[in-house]
Order: sequence, then C-alpha cells, then structure tokens
Amino acid sequence: MRILEFCTIVCMFFFNTSAIVLNTDESQSILDAASAAAAGLQALYNGNSPDGVVGKWPYPPYYWWESGAAWGGMVEYWHYTGDATYLNVTWEALVSQLGPQADFVVPQEAFNEGNDDQAFWVFAALSAAEYGFPEPPSPFPPWIETVKNAWQLYVDRWNTTNCNGGLKWQFHPENAGYYYKQSIANGGFFQISARLARYTGNQTYADWANKIWDWVSGVGLIDDIYNVYDGTDELINCTGVDHHQWSYNVGVFLYGSSVMQNYTNASDVDNIWFIRTNGLLEATTTFFSPFKNATNIMFEAACEINHNCNVDQLSKKAYMARWLAGTSMMATNTAGRIGALLRASAAGAALACTGGPDNRTCGFHWYTGVFDGSTGLGQQLSAMEVMRALLVNETAPPMTLPNVVIRGAPGNLTAPPPANPSETEAARPLHDGAPPPTGMVPGLALLIPLTIFLSLVWTCGL
Ligand SMILES: *[C@@H]1O[C@H](CO)[C@@H](O)[C@H](O)[C@H]1NC(C)=O
Ligand SMILES: *[C@@H]1O[C@H](CO)[C@@H](O)[C@H](O)[C@H]1NC(C)=O
Ligand SMILES: *[C@@H]1O[C@H](CO)[C@@H](O)[C@H](O)[C@H]1NC(C)=O
Ligand SMILES: *[C@@H]1O[C@H](CO)[C@@H](O)[C@H](O)[C@H]1NC(C)=O
Ligand SMILES: *[C@@H]1O[C@H](CO)[C@@H](O)[C@H](O)[C@H]1NC(C)=O
Ligand SMILES: *[C@@H]1O[C@H](CO)[C@@H](O)[C@H](O)[C@H]1NC(C)=O
Ligand SMILES: *[C@@H]1O[C@H](CO)[C@@H](O)[C@H](O)[C@H]1NC(C)=O
Ligand SMILES: *[C@@H]1O[C@H](CO)[C@@H](O)[C@H](O)[C@H]1NC(C)=O
Ligand SMILES: *[C@@H]1O[C@H](CO)[C@@H](O)[C@H](O)[C@H]1NC(C)=O
Ligand SMILES: *[C@@H]1O[C@H](CO)[C@@H](O)[C@H](O)[C@H]1NC(C)=O
Repeated sequence: MRILEFCTIVCMFFFNTSAIVLNTDESQSILDAASAAAAGLQALYNGNSPDGVVGKWPYPPYYWWESGAAWGGMVEYWHYTGDATYLNVTWEALVSQLGPQADFVVPQEAFNEGNDDQAFWVFAALSAAEYGFPEPPSPFPPWIETVKNAWQLYVDRWNTTNCNGGLKWQFHPENAGYYYKQSIANGGFFQISARLARYTGNQTYADWANKIWDWVSGVGLIDDIYNVYDGTDELINCTGVDHHQWSYNVGVFLYGSSVMQNYTNASDVDNIWFIRTNGLLEATTTFFSPFKNATNIMFEAACEINHNCNVDQLSKKAYMARWLAGTSMMATNTAGRIGALLRASAAGAALACTGGPDNRTCGFHWYTGVFDGSTGLGQQLSAMEVMRALLVNETAPPMTLPNVVIRGAPGNLTAPPPANPSETEAARPLHDGAPPPTGMVPGLALLIPLTIFLSLVWTCGL
C-alpha cells in the first residue's frame, strides 16, 4: 500500500509538471502556462533547419501570413511576459521578411500575399515599435517606418473604381480574390491607421481610420449592431455581402476602435468611438459561450462545433484574444467584461493543452475540458495568446511618440450591461504579485553576428 501510494504521488507529481496547469489568479502560473504554449509553438518552427526558410513555419500547410501572425504573437508574448527566450528568433524572422522596400511586400510570396496577409506582418512591426522591441539592422529603417511604408501602399491601393472605395483582398491582379473587398483587409488598414494616429499624433492617420470605418459600415460589412461580415465583391458593385462571421474580423475592428477611443480622449459615453467599441465588444458574443457548460469560453463560431475549420481558421482565436487584451488597455471601461472572457477562455485552453507526447500539446476545442487531438500552429498560437493576455493588467500600454498626449479616462465609466447578467460573475479583481520584468536586451541588433545579417539579406533577395 505504502509503495503504491508513494508511486501515485510521484506519478501525480510528474503528471502535474508536464501538463499545462493554469491558475488564472497567479502571475507565475500564467507565465508558466504561456511559456509552455510558446515552447510548443516554437517547436513547430523549422526556419533554422536545413529544409526550412528563416521567418516561416513550414509551407504547406502554413501560408506566409500565418507566420507573420505568429511572430506578431511572439512580440506580444515578449512584451507581456518579459520572457526574452524567443527574442532573437523573433527578431531574425521579422527582419527576414521585410522585403526589398521595407514594407513586407515579399516577391517570393506574391502568390499568397494579399492586403490582409501583409497586414499581419505589419501588426508585428507596429507592436515592435509600440513596445520598444530591438530595431532592425541598417540599412533597414526602424519598425515604424516599415509600418508607414505599408500604410502608404494601402492608401495607394484604396480603390474607388467600384463600390465608392475600399481595399481589395488581393493587390496582385493575377491572384484569385482580386475583385473581393474583404473585411480583414480593410480592418487591418483601419487598425493600422488608428494605431499610427495614436503613436504619432498625426491627424492624417485618424482621418483615414474614419474614412475606412465609414466605407466598411456604409457598404454593410459592419451592420447596425456591429456584427462584422466577411466581404463583398466589386463585380456586383458591393451590393451584396458574404455574411460569414469570423472572430478576427470583429476583433480587428474592436481593437482599432478602442485605440481611436483612447486617442480621441473619448471617455464620454456619447462619443462615437466609445459607442462603437462597446457595440463591437457586444458583437463578440457570437464567439463566446457555445454551450451552457462553457460560459465565456471562446470558439470559432462558423466552423469549430462542426469540426470543419481550415488551417487558417484554426488560428483566428489567437487574434481575438490579442485584440481583446489590447482593447482592455485602450478602453479601460471594457476591462471587467474582457477579463471575464479571457479568464474563462484561458482556463479552457489550458485543459485543452494536455496532449501529445509531453502532455502539454494544445488542442483546438477549449470548451470540452480535454485535449481533442487537433494540433498545429494555430492551436498553439491561440492558446499562448489567450494565456499571456491574462497579464494585461500588469503590462505597460503601447507607447506613443513623446509629444503625443493621451489623457486618462475618468473612473466612473462602465460598459453597458451584458445581455446575460451571469456573464459578469466571472469578473474578479486582479491577481496580485509583482509585475514581471519587461526589460529588453538593449542594443541587441548590434550583437547579431554579421553572418546572420548577411544571410537575412540573402533571404530577402536584396
Ligand atoms: C541573442 O543573441 C545574442 C547575440 O548573438 C546573444 O548574445 C544572446 O545571448 C541571445 N539571447 C538569447 C536569449 O538567445
Ligand atoms: C482599381 O480597381 C480596378 C477594377 O478592378 C482596376 O482596374 C484598377 O487597376 C484598380 N486601381 C488600383 C489603384 O488598384
Ligand atoms: C456603385 O455603388 C456606389 C455606392 O456604393 C454608387 O455611388 C455607384 O453609382 C454605383 N455604380 C454603379 C455602376 O452602379
Ligand atoms: C502625417 O502623415 C502623413 C501620411 O504619412 C504625411 O504625409 C504627413 O507629412 C504627416 N504630417 C506630419 C506633420 O508629420
Ligand atoms: C487628449 O487630451 C489631452 C489633455 O486634455 C490633450 O492634450 C490632447 O490634445 C487630447 N488629444 C486629442 C487627440 O484630442
Ligand atoms: C483586469 O482588471 C480589471 C479591473 O480590476 C478586472 O476586472 C479584469 O478581470 C482584469 N483582467 C484580467 C485579464 O485579469
Ligand atoms: C502523460 O500522461 C500520461 C497519462 O496520465 C502518463 O502516463 C504519461 O507518463 C505522461 N507523459 C509525460 C511525458 O509526462
Ligand atoms: C459541454 O457541452 C458540449 C455539448 O454537449 C460538449 O461537447 C462539451 O464536451 C461539454 N464540455 C464539458 C467541459 O463538459
Ligand atoms: C488610454 O489608455 C491608457 C493606457 O492604458 C489609459 O491609462 C487611459 O485611461 C486611456 N484613456 C482613455 C481616454 O480611455
Ligand atoms: C461621469 O460620467 C458622467 C456621465 O457620462 C459625466 O457627465 C461626468 O463628467 C463623469 N464624471 C467624472 C468625474 O468624470
């Protein structure tokens, strides 16, 4: 008996150290869980092996955009956790795909690069600028200049030939989808405009954020209760809309809107960006609480329950989690509601991250309480992002240029009550504990050996 008991304890010990266990109230537990999910994500990266390409997860099955999305997640991870383990590999990856004009237009990827694909790399560079991530080496410009270069391309691609405006999905005319005007492409342009406005204080970017919003909502891609639909087609002058809803579409507009709320000092409940942010947050309800037993747990509503999400779609919960956390910072009145959503979702994700040979590989379905056997980049990234997002209250907000003034919000604002009153119950006070270190490696760029840099230049095809 004694020996059996002893064995059980030992076995339990090993089991507990291997599975991802998450206490959403403890910073250290969150850091450990996010770190395990990040390790699983990096284990899938083969860019530094002979058969891999620097900066890219293997294609197939992963299109180029998803690598940019994942490195963007790693920049967020670095900033939120202070864990610099993957700083170098992230930096090398982002630099490797800047492209000859420093705008993330990469000739080798033309066949699978549309406006939205480019945007996911731009998000990474923009976060790098906002968080003080080490800058690229000469002759590349600082991250923020790369973002502005890409933004200018979007302005040039804004197309009024049909539909009174809008960005197309594709910008290479030979790619399928050239006539489709898609929410994620326009939402990417919108969010980048909003973040550039806030970062630089330059009104031109805010004007574009307004203009894009007006076009997207005018054409019906955002409806009057803030549902965001997939896209529309210029071949029918945008008179009809594809009504599929994906989590990243409402997410991309939500975070952009919250940045506009923050930038315009919109703490007045009558302000247009305050109203839009709250409306979009309400519309995210589509992607939470799939069943009564899964309150506030995120799911990809259009495909998850039917088990027919494709590789791209398996990653979309990552961006919803990322942009909810960002919104919680920018529109502080949303923090309670968003905290409840993130906590329940991260707890579900942790229970799903108990698979594979190490018992800590992440599955896709967070509402089942178990590992579902579905593994890959999107599954790891989504779990990592929703876990590290729990540190949002201990994380420094995105920076702005020194001359930009962002006024604090008054303390008496609250989000409109949620449709289901029980949804507020999970909102709990912030976990205590010292904030994690958020320091970076200063001057890292200078330390990267010249050989790596030259190989990066070669990879870029400069
Ligand atoms: C990053 O690269 C620099 C220069 O090669 C090296 O000194 C540093 O230890 C690396 N950091 C990590 C976390 O690998
Ligand atoms: C705008 O769209 C039209 C129709 O698809 C196309 O012929 C034209 O080249 C586009 N202009 C720009 C600036 O992309
Ligand atoms: C296309 O739609 C816009 C409004 O979105 C309208 O101004 C324009 O006249 C329409 N063009 C055609 C050819 O129907
Ligand atoms: C604001 O941004 C626009 C677009 O990039 C640029 O043309 C303009 O020069 C900027 N204005 C200032 C004052 O920097
Ligand atoms: C926000 O408020 C601050 C302080 O009142 C002000 O200096 C700043 O110009 C405002 N920003 C905008 C974009 O209105
Ligand atoms: C952040 O703080 C707010 C206000 O205290 C809280 O309601 C929310 O749950 C916290 N967010 C997280 C992710 O813990
Ligand atoms: C994984 O979990 C199983 C079942 O609990 C256990 O038998 C196995 O030893 C664990 N593997 C590792 C690497 O911990
Ligand atoms: C919740 O209910 C759904 C639908 O019946 C089921 O698929 C899921 O496994 C349940 N989750 C838990 C944690 O029991
Ligand atoms: C803008 O964001 C900062 C950083 O999170 C926050 O302190 C401030 O209250 C926000 N301002 C408004 C008007 O919401
Ligand atoms: C609280 O909110 C009300 C209604 O929006 C507003 O009129 C008032 O100025 C706010 N109070 C403070 C201290 O910000």
